[in-house]
Amino acid sequence: MKHLIDPTDLTKQEIDEIISLAQDIIAHRERYQGSMSHKKLATLFYEPSTRTRLSFTSAMMELGGNVLGFSDARSSSVSKGESVQDTVRVVGCFADVIAMRHHIEGAQLYATEVSTVPIINAGDGSHSHPTQTLTDLLTIQRELGHIDGITIGFCGDLRFGRTVHSLIKALSRYKDIKVILIAPDELKLPDYIKQDVCERTGIPYREVATMEEVMGELDVLYMTRVQKERFLDEDEFDRVKDSFVLDAARMSLAKKKMAVLHPLPRVNEILTEVDADPRAAYFRQVENGKFVREALIVKLHEWKDDPEHGMPVQDEPVYDDTLRCVNPKCICNNEHAPHKFRRGEDDVLRCWYCDSKVR
Ligand code: NCD
Repeated sequence: MKHLIDPTDLTKQEIDEIISLAQDIIAHRERYQGSMSHKKLATLFYEPSTRTRLSFTSAMMELGGNVLGFSDARSSSVSKGESVQDTVRVVGCFADVIAMRHHIEGAQLYATEVSTVPIINAGDGSHSHPTQTLTDLLTIQRELGHIDGITIGFCGDLRFGRTVHSLIKALSRYKDIKVILIAPDELKLPDYIKQDVCERTGIPYREVATMEEVMGELDVLYMTRVQKERFLDEDEFDRVKDSFVLDAARMSLAKKKMAVLHPLPRVNEILTEVDADPRAAYFRQVENGKFVREALIVKLHEWKDDPEHGMPVQDEPVYDDTLRCVNPKCICNNEHAPHKFRRGEDDVLRCWYCDSKVR
């Protein structure tokens, strides 16, 4: 069965199919209005959300389906201590597809091990956010007319920003992508993305200290919020919270044809004076999120029992009783998920669920 936990669960061809279906839905909304009638989507949100949850809800409604679920885990049996796997087993009796957001990394992957219906990862801690990635790809396609060949600058919190991690993974499937990383030392991109994604797939990347020095090169500027809720140390957050701010003066250094993306919510990293600039694509991006989620729901339903569209074949996990995942926010350290690992570049062992390096 096809789940979407990580962007690499989709082949390039499957991503293309979803993006082109989303474009067809935009052009002919009426054709898809009853396509999910009598189907149910469960939204299980263990962490706050506005856009992602409401866009899933709106997407399913546009398709004529129904939505159930919770937006606050305290109102569910989770507050009685129910495990993620048990919750998913139960909800699978009521719904045809589940969209889940969780603050614990790897929670959705662990849930797929028992689920009888497709699970969509709507964000797991600071790890992944593949449906935001589909939204971002559709936005780049619509704003620029192509994804291949772009130079994209990621700015802000590249350490905890899960949307950044997932988008870089997905872009590694496209041709001639160049990545520029603009972040203070404390918020640099995790090594597993640099090594296992950029270096392994040959995406050139460089790290710079200011926006000014690269603005003129960018086709896409991907701004991010500093993820306050992921910091363990408040002083560290205060030091970096206003690191990079996009204003009209900085926009004047950019190409005429360029797109500013932001997964939103923004705090103060893009001044409102930028909103009227035609290159500011972030509110159009929100709407794209609904269309792409419609396309994803339709496709996952179509692919559900199709062996051609299963999950990618993985190497066997490595078990080693002397090793433990080092990430306190990983599912292995929060529920009874086994400590298992996969071999990355240079024989490094990484947690199966959250990608943290353990050896
Ligand atoms: C992002 C998220 O939740 O990771 N928002 C979203 O899903 N649109 C980004 C963020 O919270 O800053």
